[in-house]
Amino acid sequence: EGQWVLMATGRSPTNIAVIKYWGKRDEALILPVNDSISVTLDPDHLSATTTVAVSPSFPSDRMWLNGKEISLSGGRFQSCLREIRKRARDFEDEKKGINIKREDWEKLHVHIASYNNFPTAAGLASSAAGLACFVFTLGKIMNVKEDYGELSSIARQGSGSACRSIYGGFVKWCMGKKDDGSDSIAVQLADETHWNDLVIIIAVVSSKQKETSSTSGMRDSVETSPLLQYRAQTVVPSRVLKMEEAIKNHDFESFAKLTCADSNQFHAVCLDTSPPIFYMNDTSHRYVLAVHWLGILIISLVEKWNHSEGTPQVAYTFDAGPNAVLIAQNRKTAALLLRKLLYYFPPEDKDLSSYLVGDKSILGD
Ligand code: PMV
Repeated sequence: EGQWVLMATGRSPTNIAVIKYWGKRDEALILPVNDSISVTLDPDHLSATTTVAVSPSFPSDRMWLNGKEISLSGGRFQSCLREIRKRARDFEDEKKGINIKREDWEKLHVHIASYNNFPTAAGLASSAAGLACFVFTLGKIMNVKEDYGELSSIARQGSGSACRSIYGGFVKWCMGKKDDGSDSIAVQLADETHWNDLVIIIAVVSSKQKETSSTSGMRDSVETSPLLQYRAQTVVPSRVLKMEEAIKNHDFESFAKLTCADSNQFHAVCLDTSPPIFYMNDTSHRYVLAVHWLGILIISLVEKWNHSEGTPQVAYTFDAGPNAVLIAQNRKTAALLLRKLLYYFPPEDKDLSSYLVGDKSILGD
């Protein structure tokens, strides 16, 4: 057997939920208590890039995240590896003399290197991009031919929100009804060209790792928050329908109202959890205390602005961390928003280029 190495690289962007997933009905399979809807970001700015290498000379599966080796022994990585290996197919590259039969994949080990081009675990859904990319790239190298729905249900077992990063554009994760999770998959509602006037600005107010992981936070909310039950059963089902309509019709007013309301209800569920979870602040560190104010102030800035204009200009949403995700209807409002943010929260360093990643030309609008 020749000592060959086969490699594949993939890239997956992160996604931002506008109707949040919070709470599992099955922890092992990662089945949610409600549907959720997200926007997948542009891959240039917030994405994971993963390279998988396979070689008969590798004695075990190994993984590096941002250059540091991490353990693959966790149940979630193992579920994804197992599910992809199960669906692996024959692969042949005559020129390189590589011929892998589907049953060989069980014995072949992988080396995986993944990079995030944004802060890991700061509430920017790094696990969504990471696990989607993990599954997608493994599937690519192992010649898996399953459709995206099936891939999404494998990514879901790595990290719930990852199932939505399999697609671009607007994506819905259908909670499903079955106990085995086979119908808990993501579907694309509209592709990335559908509503491409929207501009998403992420105010990274802290790149510190969050203190309460979404896994333990969700578990505590499911066990203790009466609001979570009400939200999942009564509020989200009709909100999801309204959000789908808003997206279909490019109805920004409705989109913005639903997005802000859902973010606020998700954080209300966190507060309703015992002990309460505060994702928008962190009182244990002085530095992050300032961030708390920033998060709350960004909400009040946007609320005041939307109120004074009579119709929403910008939507805000916060995940399990203090960073604000702001969605503007078009470039013009995005440029105005950026100026407001920089005016009210001036960065210490006046060299803006060191703060802005992505399309800097927006400041000129
Ligand atoms: O997929 P997880 O375990 O990282 O959970 C993500 C939960 C939220 O980001 C807060 C909401 C969502 O729907 O993405």
